[in-house]
Amino acid sequence: MSEEVWAEVDEYIADAVLERDPHLADALQANADAGLPTIDVSPLQGKLLHLLAQAIGARKILEIGTLGGYSTIWLARALAPDGRVVTLEVNAKHAEAARANFVRAGVEDRIELRLGRAIETLRQLTSEHYGPFDLVFIDADKPSNADYLREVLALCRPGTVIICDNVVRDGEVIDGESTDPNVMGARRFFTALATEPRVSATAIQTVGVKGYDGFALAVVNAAG
Ligand code: SAH
Ligand code: DHB
Ligand code: MG
Repeated sequence: MSEEVWAEVDEYIADAVLERDPHLADALQANADAGLPTIDVSPLQGKLLHLLAQAIGARKILEIGTLGGYSTIWLARALAPDGRVVTLEVNAKHAEAARANFVRAGVEDRIELRLGRAIETLRQLTSEHYGPFDLVFIDADKPSNADYLREVLALCRPGTVIICDNVVRDGEVIDGESTDPNVMGARRFFTALATEPRVSATAIQTVGVKGYDGFALAVVNAAG
């Protein structure tokens, strides 16, 4: 099976199951116009995040890696009443594009974008006793994923769902000799999951419009 087929099947499924939301399409267009990298979650992945958030009745969601806010809007649309998404971004240009997209989509009152290096913002949130979050989506710089997991646990409760994007990287995750920082980051993340007694985890390989990659999913057993 070729990447072309994966993309066509994604489009077929998207046609079948996705409601039309012009604000989501507008956000992608605005991001392209602003020259942002096109590494947003796919529409079907966005809906998966949305459904997971809805299924657990999430009121507080944390996202690490905003880009233009495409995944953030999917998550914000799933929030329980009075819910909030906190999304962390280091790049001011990305943050500006995201904020404009949140206003256009009418979700800006439910989203708090914090500009800065995520590891520092996470420590700041912990010092503010901001948690606990119901759902965490990790999708920023891959080399830091293990550090994000460790830091995020202070903002979780037993039952918090943690999802991490891009953990398969075209299958390169099995290459222990890889010098690709993203692959090394994915491997370090799996080691962190394996050695962290406070979470129980799995990962699912995915193909689609974004090629061959995967999502990890972990549930927190004990906070701290
Ligand atoms: N979740 C987005 C895509 C995020 S792309 C979506 O699916 O729509 C990854 C983002 O993480 C980029 O915008 C990048 O600027 C940001 N990022 C990279 N390193 C970071 C860091 N150290 N702290 C916070 N954000 C970071
Ligand atoms: C990259 C980052 C992502 O978050 C993604 O979903 C795909 C690719 C990247 O940096 O290459
Ligand atoms: Mg990603």
